[in-house]
Amino acid sequence: MDEQRIKRVQPMMDRRFGMFIHWGLYAIPARESRSEWIRSVDRVTTEEYQQYFDVFNPVDYDPKAWARLAKEAGMKYAVLTTKHHDGFCLFDSQYTDYKATNTPAGRDLVREYVDAFRAEGIMVGLYYSLLDWHHPDYPAYNDAHHPMRGNEAYKHQGEHFERYVEYLHNQVRELLTNYGKIDIMWFDFHYDEMTGEKWDATKLVKMAREINPDLIIDDRIGGDIKVDEPVYYAGDFGSPEQMIPANGVCDYKGNPIPWETCMTLNDNWGYSERDTNYKSAKNVIRMLVECTSKGGNLILNVGPDARGNIPERSVKILKDVGKWMKKNGESIYKCGIAHYPKPEWGRITRGEDAVYLHLIDLNQDTIAMPNFPYKVKFAQRLDDGARLSMDEPWNVGSYEGENIVFVHTPPFPSLDDADTVIKLYIEK
Ligand code: GLC
Repeated sequence: MDEQRIKRVQPMMDRRFGMFIHWGLYAIPARESRSEWIRSVDRVTTEEYQQYFDVFNPVDYDPKAWARLAKEAGMKYAVLTTKHHDGFCLFDSQYTDYKATNTPAGRDLVREYVDAFRAEGIMVGLYYSLLDWHHPDYPAYNDAHHPMRGNEAYKHQGEHFERYVEYLHNQVRELLTNYGKIDIMWFDFHYDEMTGEKWDATKLVKMAREINPDLIIDDRIGGDIKVDEPVYYAGDFGSPEQMIPANGVCDYKGNPIPWETCMTLNDNWGYSERDTNYKSAKNVIRMLVECTSKGGNLILNVGPDARGNIPERSVKILKDVGKWMKKNGESIYKCGIAHYPKPEWGRITRGEDAVYLHLIDLNQDTIAMPNFPYKVKFAQRLDDGARLSMDEPWNVGSYEGENIVFVHTPPFPSLDDADTVIKLYIEK
């Protein structure tokens, strides 16, 4: 991957933790394991789906509250679904009537989101689905995902796909010009022959970068970012979904490249009434630490309900994560790979002048790290600032080998259930 891309995506990588927001008409059926895919999974026709459009009225929508919550959780960037696969636009596009403005909501919901998150100092990202199950020129009959796949009546739909591509380009231009400087465009996704130049991708990305040369773009338009010189539209970061890769994300030569894991907080992206399978704050903290230690980001999803509220369980978890982040955030932001093997008691992240030891699975009250590649000046527990002794037992060398860094860990009863962080000040 080239320097230019790595530089461009750095501001997002420094922030490490983001909020993904999946919100749209699908919050009304609120169906578990269907969620934003309900039209495809249940083969819902446009006519049947119209009932949700007719009543979409998120009276509690308060993006300032969302932004405050993201901030409290320690999230430093956000991405909102401006249009998902169902084609419904949360923004006031001049190219369609299928938008929030024409529902009882009666206004541009993206504008309020952008303003609110920007006001909190959160980087603003927009998700835009390349798929569109509402547009009359999107292929249906032979498509792998379209709700009307296999339906004879839709055999000819898609013959004028170029009209859809024009629509997609027009909407992206609107999103990038009508809301001030957008930081991240999160396109989703490519499959079969629906990839790359099928979306007229070079032209699309050229247009986007003309509007904003700093725009950060994900890797889901098509192309491969793991090669030395990715195609122009290949994007700036990898986007593993619902998993944290064992070794982070590397190019084909084995060098780490920027990436972000996107993850649901329960099992669905969109709001789902019955999905209570939430991850705990502890899970989230550990995932975030894992991503950071492997050089990647975590963008964690919330699915607001049809009234516009982020579910209470999600709010509680995010606030708990925020409590930990308040004390330990410096071991996450602007931190990354420590270039030391993963220890048995936890993980390590590397900051500019410090290395952070994340005690996750500690069984004794000392740790020894042989052949540690840093010279350590001082060890301190992050959440209370207490100094930790580095005195070595007299015979440690006989058993642990060379260049040992030895640290006495905090007392067991005081360990944080999720992760206790030790800051090692290092000599540069
Ligand atoms: C997907 C899904 C989707 C979700 C997303 C998030 O590929 O189609 O519904 O928005 O990725 O990463």
